[in-house]
Amino acid sequence: MRRLSIGAEVPLTKELVYEAVGLNVLRLTHLAPAVRLETENGPIQAEGRRWVEFNEQQLLLQSIDLAKQWLSSWQRKPGQSFVITSGSVGTKEMRVIEGSEWKPIGAHYFSGFGNGKTTIAEALFYGCGVITVNEVEQGQEISIYPAGKLRSAREWMTMQSDSTFNLESFLYSEQLGKPRAIMIDDIGREGALPFIRSSDQAAEIRTRYYDLINYCYRQKLSVIMTSNYRLNELATFLGGATWSRLLEMVPDGFMIDITGVRDYRPIAGGRVPFIEPYERAQTLHVHV
Ligand SMILES: Nc1ncnc2c1ncn2[C@@H]1O[C@H](COP(=O)(O)OP(=O)(O)OP(=O)(O)O)[C@@H](O)[C@H]1O
Ligand SMILES: [Mg+2]
Repeated sequence: MRRLSIGAEVPLTKELVYEAVGLNVLRLTHLAPAVRLETENGPIQAEGRRWVEFNEQQLLLQSIDLAKQWLSSWQRKPGQSFVITSGSVGTKEMRVIEGSEWKPIGAHYFSGFGNGKTTIAEALFYGCGVITVNEVEQGQEISIYPAGKLRSAREWMTMQSDSTFNLESFLYSEQLGKPRAIMIDDIGREGALPFIRSSDQAAEIRTRYYDLINYCYRQKLSVIMTSNYRLNELATFLGGATWSRLLEMVPDGFMIDITGVRDYRPIAGGRVPFIEPYERAQTLHVHV
């Protein structure tokens, strides 16, 4: 259950829903509007090296916008699903634009972690919930009752090890009946499945994902997933039959890869002493 207090007599607007589901916590000020990463075979040549160039702010902003679009359309499209990923691209020499100059900011390790995937995915999951406005002493409060289950990929996989496990009864809710959405967080971090030989692990994981996704496909249940795989790696990991279903379940545009957006956790933990806001920097037209 998620709660948000609001003033008295405030109508439940889209903006309030974004606030309640946590979509407004994501900031862009630590991200640059124009970034260059030194990359072999990069399309841009400068300083005798090759680079890829992209708009880091736009990459995250676009995902937030897509999440909002998804929330406005999912009710009309039962089973509409969503995938957000970012992979590791290792340590890259970095430049950011300052005025019209490319300023070196040293090497940065792009882990693919901590850049907002779970935050965005959770916002969609809670956005599929039952949202009610209740009167409280100070005013009103928005409550969200999740209409489905949010579990890590590891939990979704290991729960299937129990021979008495039944997906339908697991997903059914006394209060709401049929679920509307499930969230699978961190695909690729299942760990080893118990009681399965190591040579059979990958195939067994694929079978379990097939069972889970095919059930959602047939029941028109939305699947919201995050992963640290790039999209093509995710397709291979899940297997052809599952990926084929996802290509139908996730409308074009809602499979998002935000690789290249930096990890926010060192900033949240105060490990990055001062991040100059990039907002005033001149925006270039760059290729994402
Ligand atoms: N752009 C941002 N602005 C503010 N806070 C952010 C931003 N991106 C991430 N955070 C915060 O950083 C933490 C990590 O974000 P989140 O859990 O969404 O990352 P993730 O991409 O799922 O990471 P992982 O790949 O490790 O699972 C959270 O507390 C989140 O609120
Ligand atoms: Mg996460």
